[in-house]
Amino acid sequence: MNSDPVLWLKDVTRRFGSGDTALDILRGVDLALRPGEIVALVGPSGAGKSTLLHIAGLLEAPTSGQVLIDGKDCAGLGDSGRTKLRRDSIGFVYQFHHLLPEFSARENVMIPQMVAGLSAAEAGERADQLLKMVGLERRGTHRPARLSGGEQQRVAIVRAIANVPQVLLADEPTGNLDPQTASDVFAQLTRIVRATGLAALIATHNLELAHAMDRTLEIRDGRVAELKR
Ligand SMILES: Nc1ncnc2c1ncn2[C@@H]1O[C@H](COP(=O)(O)OP(=O)(O)OP(=O)(O)O)[C@@H](O)[C@H]1O
Ligand SMILES: [Mg+2]
Repeated sequence: MNSDPVLWLKDVTRRFGSGDTALDILRGVDLALRPGEIVALVGPSGAGKSTLLHIAGLLEAPTSGQVLIDGKDCAGLGDSGRTKLRRDSIGFVYQFHHLLPEFSARENVMIPQMVAGLSAAEAGERADQLLKMVGLERRGTHRPARLSGGEQQRVAIVRAIANVPQVLLADEPTGNLDPQTASDVFAQLTRIVRATGLAALIATHNLELAHAMDRTLEIRDGRVAELKR
């Protein structure tokens, strides 16, 4: 793959705290994600996977280093520029679905699109298509509490890609699911990534899932290295 990276972290560091209690969690992370690839991010608990994803998703700033989304350096962006870039270019999926409980599955997928400026009719139509992609066309009216864990995560995944982002960041998206459901949800996630040419970075403790991805990056001692298989 020769295309330019859609996500590029250059010499990223992250320090928590200061003085004697400072913790250097990321110590110079270099990472490039190209369109269409699905990359696993592994490493022991506390290694900095979530921290790295939050920095890549522009949810927090690195202590030093650069984050480039689609070639654009994010450091110079103000709050509103960052919010816009995040809304347009990045989808985020968490371990817990974080769906809005008082809204239906369909509405949950519609809302980010309407925030981005689509009409209710357009957003609804796309929500229906997306829910169908993950086999939930008959669950659109259900609120999250009336969905199974795997169904909730599938809604969270299509919500994350509703605005056609270039980068999908997922933090243990199947961590709360039983092994069979986890592998079903992962298969659907893969299908979506392949169909859309998105780039995905997925933190997981599940090495079997990691091996099913295109490559695996491991965080160790604050740096990221390709894990040989
Ligand atoms: N806001 C913060 N202030 C201080 N330390 C923090 C903060 N956020 C994270 N840390 C520390 O940074 C380290 C990395 O945390 P992080 O959540 O990125 O790990 P992780 O690899 O995602 O772990 P897990 O697999 O358990 O989810 C941890 O030791 C954590 O205590
Ligand atoms: Mg984590």
